[in-house]
Amino acid sequence: MSAMAETKQSGLMEKIVALCKRRGFIFQSSEIYGGINGFWDYGPAGAELKRNIKDAWWNDVVRSRTDVVGIDGTIITHPRVWEASGHTTAFTDPMVDCRACKKRYRADQLSGETGKALVVEMGSAAEKTVKLPKGIACPACGSKDLTEPRPFNLMFKTYIGPVEEESSVSYLRPETAQIIFAQFQNVLSVSRQKLPFGIAQIGKAFRNEINPRNFTFRSREFEQMELEFFVKPGTDAKWHEYWVKERLKWYESIGLPKDKLSVYNYKKDELAHYASACVDVMFEFPFGVQELEGIASRGDFDLSQHQKFSGKSMEYFDDEAKERYIPHVVEPSAGVDRIALALLCAAYDEETVTGENGKTETRVVMRFAPRVAPVKVAVFPLLRNKPPLVEKAREIFKLLQPQFTTEWDDRGNIGKRYRYQDEQGTPWCVTIDFETLGEKGSELKDTVTLRDRDTMKQDRVKIDELVPLISAKLRNSPR
Ligand code: GAP
Repeated sequence: MSAMAETKQSGLMEKIVALCKRRGFIFQSSEIYGGINGFWDYGPAGAELKRNIKDAWWNDVVRSRTDVVGIDGTIITHPRVWEASGHTTAFTDPMVDCRACKKRYRADQLSGETGKALVVEMGSAAEKTVKLPKGIACPACGSKDLTEPRPFNLMFKTYIGPVEEESSVSYLRPETAQIIFAQFQNVLSVSRQKLPFGIAQIGKAFRNEINPRNFTFRSREFEQMELEFFVKPGTDAKWHEYWVKERLKWYESIGLPKDKLSVYNYKKDELAHYASACVDVMFEFPFGVQELEGIASRGDFDLSQHQKFSGKSMEYFDDEAKERYIPHVVEPSAGVDRIALALLCAAYDEETVTGENGKTETRVVMRFAPRVAPVKVAVFPLLRNKPPLVEKAREIFKLLQPQFTTEWDDRGNIGKRYRYQDEQGTPWCVTIDFETLGEKGSELKDTVTLRDRDTMKQDRVKIDELVPLISAKLRNSPR
């Protein structure tokens, strides 16, 4: 990227961060106390956006299929779960301290390498040692007096019960996946599934990242949507390919533009020892092309580890082949917050328009696919101080509210209300005016204006036709 393009892109990120605060998508956590690094709260619009992402995923990955079931597990588990998975010993990042200014870095971020060179082999203590190239200086103070990289475990520790001692240590889960593996036999026995089948989960994960950055991209508390798809050994490659295709289609279905999506294929020496393939789904953020989701073919590593550590069988009886084996797994693992950030970045648009006073102005509009837009329809009475208008508008609000996420707004002039909804990405606004009431014998009685966010066109629509029309528009939007 040229220096000019880079400045433009970082300016864009600043605008997106400002809009997120202004329109209630994302706030700094504990802002009134000065904030807390790596933690973010979602405001009213952000909470809806996130919920829509999770609903879209749950609907497409679980409910609309017959071969995937869901679970909802705990954040704190038996600590043995993380011993079996390898997280206790090997879930580390190489940390470097500047002895001069005391700033702390992740070694790969200092050396400019990608995280991919740092694959940690879970389940073995044999971490790859990361060496800093000669002559690297602290980006903050320029000193070359840096410590050698040393492993830093990313799991947040806590104590269970009143006594803070070694035997009561547990962890906040750093991924949701292990809860699925640990419940594999229970789910298998209740769900009447046969291989191949999947277990899905959405939930919070926690990582004590050394250097949270890029807004919400790398946070210390975030949400994952993970699928463990269990397959017969030997069919891994076929299913891995299948899930890479499915997941890419899904990202387009929520409105991420195809030309900003790409895949990164791990090279053999970047894979963990047990994995046979891994593909990352990448998105072009203003701060660079970065990972949204990893799709890994993990063999039988996880189930075998839990079998070994728990002493409980993780085998599956294949009644066609009449044999027992530990299933292999293909794992598409996505981050909700990263997807929300990608949607916010992709949706942000500015255009020059002529305002009500005839002057040109900049319109900021979030062009979300209607499927993920926080609010689908906003309802406005033309004036707030005319009771018949307000009453009619309330009636229409009540008609729409059970069908779509609907917002009421009667503040300020209509132009301002449209701009507010544009910045929130609301695809449609309905205005109730005097013609709706049939004043002065208007032929437009019982019609309203339906305004489109993207074209700004306003159509006159019969009240009776509103629900079917908006439903059809929603159905036909990208998905
Ligand atoms: N079970 C596999 C696993 O957890 P991962 O690549 O470490 O794999 C999966 O995480 C996804 O979770 C990532 O692709 C990303 O979307 C999200 N994620 C991971 N760390 C994150 C962080 N610190 N902040 C926000 N999202 C994160």
